[in-house]
Amino acid sequence: MESLALIGLQWGDEGKGKVVDWVSARFDLTLRYQGGPNAGHTVWVDGERWVFHQMPAGILNPNIRVAIAAGCVLYPETLFEEWERLDAEGVEYRSRTIIDPRVHLILPYHRLLDRLRDEARGKARIGTTARGIGPCYQEKYARYGIRVGDLFSPKLSDRIDVLLGYVNPILEKVFDQEPFGRQRILDDLLAVRDRIRPFVGDAAEVVKEYLAQGKKVLFEGAQGFLLDVDHGSYPYVTSSHPGTGGISSGIGISPKSIGKVIGLTKAYATRVGAGPFPTEDEGEMGCKLQELGNEFGAATGRKRRCGWLDLPLLRYAIRSNGVDGLAVTKLDVLDDFDVIKLCIGYRRSDGSIAKEITPWDENPGEPVYEEIEGWRVPTDGVRSLEELPDRARAYLERISRELDLPLWLVSVGQDRKATIVLPDFPFK
Ligand code: IMP
Repeated sequence: MESLALIGLQWGDEGKGKVVDWVSARFDLTLRYQGGPNAGHTVWVDGERWVFHQMPAGILNPNIRVAIAAGCVLYPETLFEEWERLDAEGVEYRSRTIIDPRVHLILPYHRLLDRLRDEARGKARIGTTARGIGPCYQEKYARYGIRVGDLFSPKLSDRIDVLLGYVNPILEKVFDQEPFGRQRILDDLLAVRDRIRPFVGDAAEVVKEYLAQGKKVLFEGAQGFLLDVDHGSYPYVTSSHPGTGGISSGIGISPKSIGKVIGLTKAYATRVGAGPFPTEDEGEMGCKLQELGNEFGAATGRKRRCGWLDLPLLRYAIRSNGVDGLAVTKLDVLDDFDVIKLCIGYRRSDGSIAKEITPWDENPGEPVYEEIEGWRVPTDGVRSLEELPDRARAYLERISRELDLPLWLVSVGQDRKATIVLPDFPFK
């Protein structure tokens, strides 16, 4: 099967944008299958920074088609902003972009509710991206949602009435806000309909056809598996399924359509928003990671919390997603450290050491670290494993051995070229 799933193994922000862009050059189709503009996939091309929240990050490769599949949620305004930039920079996307009719639309009050609800939680705030993700998925599962396909239905205005009958009392009575009027929402949606009409198509069918023709398909995960609504650090999670489990239902294809799985991890760890982060370093070293890694959320600009690579949590994510090979990103951020910490296990209260933990275990024990001597040599110009300083190579080989997976890709800088491709990577 000529397909590859690209999955974040941490709390998102593993550098998926860069890797998707790089890998897409070898593929025919890239799809987002979950999430929405809470993602911020950053791509650097020739010194120019692009951040994709809605469009699949492969779009800058001219020979690829991209799709936003059924399991995604879509905020049209953000999509249109991305289109405007593509137009301004002369990137053709119109003939290459598919939006599935089953995608749910994020409406302006979803964003309002997201913010109000998270604030109302007080100390138990999740620290969402306030992009309306949770409220939109909530309405999807409560079967009130408005989908892209509904824009073309004569029943659209009735659907809005049903929706507002549920939403407005919440806005007014719980949050003391003005209700939303049907006409305003209808007018906005009709304008959206006119703009996206040419793009609407069945993404699942396209994947099935492409795979049948032996074309290559890339499944672009957003967020990371530790944020999965079922299998992550609930309730400090997003509202979708960023792992391989989300691909089949999020597109509408057989799970057997997933050929290989590449798991992405940074060479250290970060998390944005609230929730457990056992290997977080709140001291000087954490600050240094934050600075050198330029760790700010691409969607919200918030400072990311920083810490050390957590092998036990990675083992959980790897086994849950059937990962075949690893991509380790931002190795170069560690170039300037005398000591690098690596969490190799968790000491339980009975003194035993756990080699694997789950993100929803509230008492995983104390992280056990090994301290590794840093290499103190720049790696951003390195293009092969052999050229890496010995200690950097040993660090990567240790990760690969501990996780029992081959290294496929190593990223040593933001640019496309700053990528080390290992011989085992199946899509060269
Ligand atoms: P939501 O997805 O906006 O509802 O946010 C829920 C949690 O997931 C918050 O902790 C966010 O910071 C986090 N989150 C959502 N999307 C991303 C992402 O793309 N990268 C990293 N964290 C994310």
